[in-house]
Amino acid sequence: MSKNPSYLFCGSSHTTLGKELSECMKITLGKLKLSQFPDGEISVEIQENVWGADVFVLQSLALNPNYYLVELLILIDALKRSSAKSITLIMPYFGYCRQDRKDKQGVPITAKLVANLLAVAGITRLITIDLHAGQLEGFFEIPVDHLHAQKILIKSAKEILKGTPVIVSPDVGSIKIGEKIASEMGTELAVIKKERISPTEIKKMELIGSVTGRPVIIADDICSTGNTLVAAANLCKEEGALQIIALVTHGLCIDFAFEKIEVSPIEKLFLTNTISHSYLSPKVTEVSICSLFCNSEIGAKK
Ligand code: R5P
Repeated sequence: MSKNPSYLFCGSSHTTLGKELSECMKITLGKLKLSQFPDGEISVEIQENVWGADVFVLQSLALNPNYYLVELLILIDALKRSSAKSITLIMPYFGYCRQDRKDKQGVPITAKLVANLLAVAGITRLITIDLHAGQLEGFFEIPVDHLHAQKILIKSAKEILKGTPVIVSPDVGSIKIGEKIASEMGTELAVIKKERISPTEIKKMELIGSVTGRPVIIADDICSTGNTLVAAANLCKEEGALQIIALVTHGLCIDFAFEKIEVSPIEKLFLTNTISHSYLSPKVTEVSICSLFCNSEIGAKK
């Protein structure tokens, strides 16, 4: 029996990106029925013949992560039980990634739990972008393609930059991303020491390095409430930065983040489209991640 063609099946978290990726990867968008039983249970029906096929699944675990996670697990199970040969999960934003270590008694490691759930459901390969910590790759026993969005974000930033920038990491966790951008642009890195009171509140920020009279690029993997970016931008302004641009891979942008950014010293925030938004404020520009897939070995070859 001959192998069926490749399909990309898209969960409900980001259908716009699903269409864009199916075009650039030249993979047919697979038909499926996603619905809910009256009590809220999720139901999935694959409406293609995937017997022996290499299939792709797209889902980002953002903004309604609990629902999208369960929907994804059920979708993978349905594909496995339909005898797909391989199931590659494209998860542009790996939700639950920030709880990645037991830093105090009584807390879980949700990143590992999600990795286990995906493996048990049946994925055979994962493609993801800018994991919160690179070592999360080691939570999987299957191949992981970890892609990075910094080059495409830099390309957009260059269009408005007014000189050679200083790259600013707004906390210690984002130093790796900052270093990547600084080395790509051949410039230096400054770091902010951030002290938090809670996951949404910042107590204190201290700049290590100089930004006086220079354009600044603040680089982070996630913008959630926007508090980190805005506090970092205020500090850079106080320290005499000439221009402030922010580059962020994953824009969760909850809790009035867009509104806070609009009234901040940030001139422009470039975000990728790993997370779906129905609205973007004027200072925010979305950059597509599709080129990471079109120009790589990841897409299906027809
Ligand atoms: C933290 O480790 C991340 O890199 C981001 O800095 C953080 O998630 C941003 O959160 P918020 O936008 O709520 O300040």
